[in-house]
Amino acid sequence: MAERILITSALPYANGPLHIGHLVEYVQTDIYVRFLRSAGKDVVYFCADDTHGTPIELAARKEGVEPEKYVARWFEEHQRDMRDMDIRHDYYWSTHSEENRRYSELIYSRLKEAGDIERRDVEQTYCETDRRFLPDRFVRGTCPNCKSPNQYGDVCEKCGKTYSPTDLIDPCCAICGNPPVRRSSTHLFFKLGRHTDFLRNLVQQPSFLYPSVAGQLAQFFEKGLADWDISRDGPYFGFPIPGEKDKYFYVWLDAPIGYIATTEKWAKETGRARDAMEYWAAGSDARILHFIGKDIVYFHALFWPAVLKTAGFKVPNRVQVHGHLTFNGEKMSKSRGTLVAGRTYLDLLDPSYLRFFYALNLGPGAEDLDLSLTEFRQRVNAELVNNIANLANRALSLI
Ligand code: MSP
Ligand code: ZN
Repeated sequence: MAERILITSALPYANGPLHIGHLVEYVQTDIYVRFLRSAGKDVVYFCADDTHGTPIELAARKEGVEPEKYVARWFEEHQRDMRDMDIRHDYYWSTHSEENRRYSELIYSRLKEAGDIERRDVEQTYCETDRRFLPDRFVRGTCPNCKSPNQYGDVCEKCGKTYSPTDLIDPCCAICGNPPVRRSSTHLFFKLGRHTDFLRNLVQQPSFLYPSVAGQLAQFFEKGLADWDISRDGPYFGFPIPGEKDKYFYVWLDAPIGYIATTEKWAKETGRARDAMEYWAAGSDARILHFIGKDIVYFHALFWPAVLKTAGFKVPNRVQVHGHLTFNGEKMSKSRGTLVAGRTYLDLLDPSYLRFFYALNLGPGAEDLDLSLTEFRQRVNAELVNNIANLANRALSLI
């Protein structure tokens, strides 16, 4: 039987429209999938919405709707945008699904059985008004280093210094503005450090990770791989952790499991496989390949393989990493109006121009690429229209 290949793109957060940066990845993956298919390979392509976590929960609350309803809207919109960009998944699903709950619970129970989960008390920032723990991004204050006001709790956008929320001068809760307090709570940690040798060896394989990308991970091995906090206290939009009171899986635990959940849903809906384990079981001979951006390598090349191996699942064959898109030479930003929505592009131009331009500019490594509108116009006109379309047109008239 021909080798089976399973390909994924990273799951977009269900809290905003897809922009032209996301599309770099979805176009890149789609082109690769089409290439394999045209070469006669047995390939399936999956993606899903990433629905859990505090930012999504709070965004829903701001709009006065339940998170379930809020993410359902983005689910529709993301699929419409992908379809109109000619991105063809074999299945598009959601991390807020029964399949994902089931696999998250299963994987967690296997991690526990393996002795890889440890309880530990951690002190965190807590808002007594909102009665919730605050993620670093939801604490604001003055940077302890350069004294710029109104900075996030993890990093100063002015001077780039990283710190913890307690280092901020005059910290306040980003939701209600009141000063937070410190409070201790028990968290569950995945013992990532135990898997150091396995991971070091894995990321050094050029077949798994492009060498220059692997190089970026060296810093983590030098510092020693820190154990990974996989739990969050309620209120939290996510899956409750079985056997715990008011604790939820951290969004980054269940997000990649969404790849498996989507495989399961596809198998059940289409009958093209018995279940997800045909692809994801430890001994499976399927090839699994993830396309991601350079900002999430840590999760995909370290946590994810260690979790899968410990839980008795298949370790992916490759993580393919691309760089970030800049727009007219600048980092895209919402406030500067350079974060162009996929829909804005689609309202103006044919998807094939952008697909062509990304294909021209993407390579095997994770260098950033720029969408300069001048270059975009020139190359589409000169190469796509004048060379390729003209050639096809003339050949057609001849025939
Ligand atoms: N939800 C997580 C991924 C979970 S995967 C189990 C996430 N979502 S995201 O919406 O922020 O990003 C989705 C993908 O788009 C990521 O691979 C990210 O790197 C990519 N991009 C987001 N902005 C981008 C650019 N400006 N340029 C290129 N890719 C970009 O991360
Ligand atoms: Zn508050």
